[in-house]
Amino acid sequence: MIVAGREILKHAHKHGYAVGAFNVNNMEQVKAIIEAAEETKSPVIIQASQGGLKYAGVEYIAAMVKEAAKNASVPVALHLDHGTDFKQIMMCIRNGFTSVMIDASHYELEENIKKTRKIVEMAHAVGVSVEAELGKIGGVEDDISVDEKDATFTDPDDAEKFVAETGVDSLAIAVGTAHGPYKGEPKLDFERIKVIKEKLNMPLVLHGSSGVPEESIKEAVRLGINKINIDTDIRMAFHRAVKEFVKKNPDVYDPRKILSPAKEEMKNVIADKMRIFGSAGMA
Ligand code: G3H
Ligand code: 13P
Ligand code: ZN
Repeated sequence: MIVAGREILKHAHKHGYAVGAFNVNNMEQVKAIIEAAEETKSPVIIQASQGGLKYAGVEYIAAMVKEAAKNASVPVALHLDHGTDFKQIMMCIRNGFTSVMIDASHYELEENIKKTRKIVEMAHAVGVSVEAELGKIGGVEDDISVDEKDATFTDPDDAEKFVAETGVDSLAIAVGTAHGPYKGEPKLDFERIKVIKEKLNMPLVLHGSSGVPEESIKEAVRLGINKINIDTDIRMAFHRAVKEFVKKNPDVYDPRKILSPAKEEMKNVIADKMRIFGSAGMA
């Protein structure tokens, strides 16, 4: 069943686990996520980026996820990932998204607050939850020095002010992860997660979580992360399976035959994540 993002995250926050938020662009990804969630009895967040919406169309994404969620035995939220455009956020809400992210993290604190509050007012009026971001979650960065860290990682006092003045339902924090594949091993600032969780006592979100070692993910969850975003690891699973299939079967041209093993590979990766995040068995 499709539910509000807030409902899923409140449960995770209360029971101390994290829900996977997996990016989709096509039907095979939607099916892989739903099947993994059913198999592991896990609540799940299916999300689309602005690029994903441009690729598939907001109506297509919404229709696919709603269709998949309709008969699912687990709670499913449909979420906009890294929304930056007011009109597009409204289009998502109009098409049944149950949660949206407003990412104004590249603005100064006051401007981020102003832009986020506007979305919260609109979204909450129609029961849609809002995630925002504070601090800068980069692209792929090799290593971050202490100075850079203070400039880009989420400041706990700013976070307290941000949440009080915007009324967001969840907050994405910058603690050492980055989007895309890592060159070295990411080092998470666990102390920062702990301090922010103690101050805010609300659902916290970790972006750029593909490629983060299992033990680091588990520690982040133990300290208060409740939503974990995964895109790159799913893309890599898809690529791995398609490559292998085409190599072994160079003359097979039926998309169903090529994409079925890719769906299975994505499903296995996603189900493993659900077990690591602690959401398995929570639905
Ligand atoms: O946060 C970024 C996600 O991995 C989405 O990436 O904009 O290429 O769809 P994308
Ligand atoms: P990855 O690139 O690490 O999968 O991050 C995905 C993400 O944060 C989407 O918002
Ligand atoms: Zn992200």
